[in-house]
Amino acid sequence: MDMQPKGQFEAKVSFNKKVGDKFYRLGLQFTGAGAEAFGGTRPGQFAQFDVSNVALPAPEAIPEELKDAAARQILLRRPFSFARVVRDRGITTVEVVYCVLGPATLRMTTLTKGSSISVIGPLGNGFSIPQGKKKALLVAGGTGSPPLEHLAQALTAESPTIDAIAFAGAKTANELPFEKRLDSISRELGFWLGEFGRYSIGSFVATDDGSAGFKGTVTDCLLDWLSQNSPKPDETIIYACGPRPMLASVAKVAADKRIDCQVSMEEMMACGIGLCQSCAIKCKSQTGGEVYKLCCKDGPVFDAKELLFVQG
Ligand code: FES
Repeated sequence: MDMQPKGQFEAKVSFNKKVGDKFYRLGLQFTGAGAEAFGGTRPGQFAQFDVSNVALPAPEAIPEELKDAAARQILLRRPFSFARVVRDRGITTVEVVYCVLGPATLRMTTLTKGSSISVIGPLGNGFSIPQGKKKALLVAGGTGSPPLEHLAQALTAESPTIDAIAFAGAKTANELPFEKRLDSISRELGFWLGEFGRYSIGSFVATDDGSAGFKGTVTDCLLDWLSQNSPKPDETIIYACGPRPMLASVAKVAADKRIDCQVSMEEMMACGIGLCQSCAIKCKSQTGGEVYKLCCKDGPVFDAKELLFVQG
């Protein structure tokens, strides 16, 4: 039975900084019962934020492509996973990376230190770390990197004998949601991103246009690494988060190489607690047929073998 505490809590903003053209990193602090609940967050779990009362930026600060959408009322909470969770003397700070894509995330850019929002969580299941694994390959596509950053933190703290490597891909260098690109010497040693380097975890970057790192998709980058390193399949696990076509291609690589694979799905989630059915995902049933599972309640992390990916 799930005994993890969860609930609705007020979170105080501790920082909200821009980390690229469209990305922000937001720090939220919880005290009391909220600190207890969020201090136990597993990588891949998420929370639902209420930003309906957060102010819009000044009209001149609203990007042209969001001007029409900006005025829309925010009726539903928005789901976010975490990039890092730190407990310190009764306070839990969670860090969230978000991309400014619509009216809710546009409002979030105006959050300043000391302001507060209502957060429900932690929700969902999170990644698991099976016994017997020695190598973990963390594969992030686009904005799918936060739960893998959080997983890097958990692997370092809980399973230091597992050797982890991260792969992060995007269309162009500007669309990589990371703040800390490392210098050329670090890159030659296989450490491109400071967000993983802080845990002594090596990382590779892939961009479709070749503007940073490997030229090609993050799945091609992973395949390239696998062909050069040939890790033992039964001692290896792949963790992935990103857009659905990318997850489908990573799942296929894992199946072809007989490597276990867990994927975190990015679905629209209206309620986040299994009531509205807006996040149903087609899965394989135990008898080989089809069954729908809820991303918010049964996931967002699934064994890749369970999922019937719809391509295109
Ligand atoms: Fe409502 Fe999953 S988001 S059931």
